[in-house]
Parts: sequence; structure tokens; C-alpha cells
Amino acid sequence: MKIRDKEFFILLKEAEIRKRVLEIAGEINRDYAKKQPLFISVLNGAFIFAADLMREIRLSSTLSFIKLSTYDQTSSTGKIKELIGLNEQLFKKDIIIIEDIVDSGFTLSYLLEHLQGLGPSSIEVVALLVKPESLKAEVSIKYTGFRIPENFVVGYGLDYDGYGRNLKDIYFLKTD
Ligand code: IMP
Ligand code: MG
Repeated sequence: MKIRDKEFFILLKEAEIRKRVLEIAGEINRDYAKKQPLFISVLNGAFIFAADLMREIRLSSTLSFIKLSTYDQTSSTGKIKELIGLNEQLFKKDIIIIEDIVDSGFTLSYLLEHLQGLGPSSIEVVALLVKPESLKAEVSIKYTGFRIPENFVVGYGLDYDGYGRNLKDIYFLKTD
């Protein structure tokens, strides 16, 4: 799969992703059976995962979107720009953050620290993809879709230079 100037290879197929999304939704439905969580989806990358996950959630719940962008093409800068779009009261709420991918973990650790300060009852994270070898910040992720190698990935919401978000499968970039 050629995207812009690079050749990508299949990592996770649509059906595999679908199966995992259903499993995770099942876990969340069980764990939050007596709660009314507020899901916070991190744009842009998590928009497809959030859409698929939320349609399998059977809880009385709400969903909000925030944006917190730091990524520069294929390498993480580790620098946080800003957080846009958080209009909800988090005080005493049970928060579930929906992330597409945790790479260095800097984005998530910043976000967790910031949201923690708003006094929620609980905060947990659901991340479709985690790159354990890339983790630099200490973050606890309650629900993980797939643990993947360090390679850059694209598809199912994730982009390379803005492209590839529309792909149904997830592809990786070979490192040489
Ligand atoms: P972190 O702060 O290094 O954990 O990076 C987190 C954000 O960078 C993710 O939410 C993604 O938006 C983006 N990102 C990290 N790795 C990849 C990748 O392999 N492909 C596309 N985006 C990525
Ligand atoms: Mg993201």
C-alpha cells in the first residue's frame, strides 16, 4: 500500500480489529455496569475507533471530543501544543479516555495529569494500539487493543502526513 512517498504493509485486518473492539466494549460494559461514564475521545486519530467502540457500548453514557496534537509526520516530538474542546464538567465523573495509539506516552501522561486536576471520580484509558518498546512516560492503560512493534502505523483513523485515515485495515512502515 503506497501512501504518499512510502510503502506500507498490512499489520491488522479489519475483521481482527472488529473482533477486538467487540471484546473491549464487552469488558467496558461489564466494568461500568453501575456507572454512567463520560468517554473522551482524542482527535483526530481516535475518531474511527471511538465511533466503532461507542456503538457497542450499552451503558448510559456521554461522549466528548478533545484535540491535543503533537505529532510531526513519522516522529514524535514529545512536545505538547494545547488541549482544545473540553467543555464538560469532569468533577466526580467516571472518565474513560479513548486513544488511537500510545507511542511515547507523553501525550497521554500530559492529558491524564491535566484531567486528574479537574476532580473526576476515576479516569481510565482505552487505547486501540500500544507500542510497549516506545513507552517513555509512565501511563496506566486499562484496556489495550493490540500491542504492536515500534514501527509507524497508518489506517483506521491513523494518518501519515494527513493521509490514510480512511483505510479499513492498519498498515505498518518497514524500517531499514
Ligand atoms: P505519544 O505522545 O508519543 O504517545 O504519541 C501519541 C500520538 O501520536 C497518538 O495519539 C497519535 O496521534 C500519534 N502517533 C503515535 N504513533 C503513531 C503512528 O505510528 N502512526 C500515526 N500516528 C501516531
Ligand atoms: Mg492520538
